[in-house]
Amino acid sequence: MDRIASPVETFPLQAPTPSAWVDEAVRRWPELLSDHANCEKKAASTALAMMFAYPEDRELASRLSRLAREELRHFEQVDRLMQEQGVPYLRVKPGRYASRLRAAMRTHEPWRKLDLLLCGVLIEARSCERFRLLAARPADGAAGGAALPAPVAELYAALEASEARHFQLYLKLAERHAQAAGIDDPRGTVSRRLKELAEVEAEAATGPDPEFRFHSGAPATGEAGAAGPASGEGGRAPREA
Ligand SMILES: [Fe+2]
Ligand SMILES: [Fe+2]
Repeated sequence: MDRIASPVETFPLQAPTPSAWVDEAVRRWPELLSDHANCEKKAASTALAMMFAYPEDRELASRLSRLAREELRHFEQVDRLMQEQGVPYLRVKPGRYASRLRAAMRTHEPWRKLDLLLCGVLIEARSCERFRLLAARPADGAAGGAALPAPVAELYAALEASEARHFQLYLKLAERHAQAAGIDDPRGTVSRRLKELAEVEAEAATGPDPEFRFHSGAPATGEAGAAGPASGEGGRAPREA
């Protein structure tokens, strides 16, 4: 089927998702859905955290309020799908993705806000890319055994466009912040910093990873981390979207 080119193709993610991750995600789709539901909640939570952190920024508040509502609607869609497909929630410890991004972020203003927004760009762009890859996989009954159930592939095809809008919004907010904060060469600075953070993101999203998550890297050899005893996200930001 012909697909409209996604904006993610022109976006500087520094490395594509490995096909081994897509294979693993299709094979472990119930775990994928369970972690995806977490990601949608975290995406809403990240947006709310930024609204609390920068209450004086009315434009950011109004944009991110809408985004948070949309992420919660995504959560409701995934949750409904999980119920229809009989998929239980799994308690898993957080993957390394968000913590690696968090470690790369600066902690003083105006750079902290810039880095938070740029991490939002990257997380949303990676989600967009992965939804697209997953939706392109064959539906039920395809040869080769592993296939996403058709309703899952359909939902992912629908979510791709939302995540594309989200990373574009975060990028716009980052450029606007750089300008408002009086940062020299705002567009150039945003672009250079985005590239630096994108390198960290690419390593986390593509390097060998012993655990399987929505944003994990290439599956490491051996049975990757299934359900663990703990759940929850340490720290406040960034969270996966
Ligand atoms: Fe979402
Ligand atoms: Fe999103």
